[in-house]
Amino acid sequence: MRRALIAGNWKMNGLKADLQELSGMAKGFTPALRARTDVMVAPPATLLFAASAMLIGTGMTLGAQDCHEGASGAHTGDVSASMLFDSGAEMVILGHSERRQNHGETSALIQAKVRAALTAGLHVILCVGETRAEREAGRALGIVRRQVRQSLPERLSAGSVSIAYEPVWAIGTGLTPTLDDIATMHADIRKTLRGVLMKGEAEKTRLLYGGSVKPENAAAILALADVDGALVGGASLKATDFLAIIAAA
Ligand code: PGA
Repeated sequence: MRRALIAGNWKMNGLKADLQELSGMAKGFTPALRARTDVMVAPPATLLFAASAMLIGTGMTLGAQDCHEGASGAHTGDVSASMLFDSGAEMVILGHSERRQNHGETSALIQAKVRAALTAGLHVILCVGETRAEREAGRALGIVRRQVRQSLPERLSAGSVSIAYEPVWAIGTGLTPTLDDIATMHADIRKTLRGVLMKGEAEKTRLLYGGSVKPENAAAILALADVDGALVGGASLKATDFLAIIAAA
């Protein structure tokens, strides 16, 4: 019922020359893979326009990594959701822990960004996840529940968001939670969504896992019942690695 979504987050990596990797991904995203998996790549904002031309007819979706909560105005250096949409993006990653930590983004701000993105017509991948200290203190489930509740606006329309569970301590470290821990968290997020979204919507919402997803561990993680895809950082920069993860979905 839920199609898998494999999303690549290039972060602050990628110059024009690196669009060759994107082209390689598009070439390797065969009709057989397209039939069962959705794929999104989020390059840096500077590459969106060029990438969007490249992805026409490939079945791959273009995404962005953040947006401002306002529609337009005096916000030097910021990029609005409608600008991303205008550049060819169809999705945007919001609430990534690198934004929460390095830019002091709160769930309230992220909620405003989610609203702005939806208004602009973007699908949102909302990131949530606990720190190592929070997990060790036994607070992971509670922290993530709160992030989900506080970051999602009320009365979301159907299919407008996906949630990515990304434990902060697993991002870029090569560490991952146990399969049991991922399964427990995803089931808990689905339960939280039942209390937040309209009836039936929680069942339709895709829950992605992110944090050190690699070709070697993707199949086992993606086989878990409530894992509907992956948000991939480092391994989304190389076409061969990313395609191997797509094939595992
Ligand atoms: P990683 O990053 O796959 O490099 O751990 C994931 C993410 O931050 O989205």
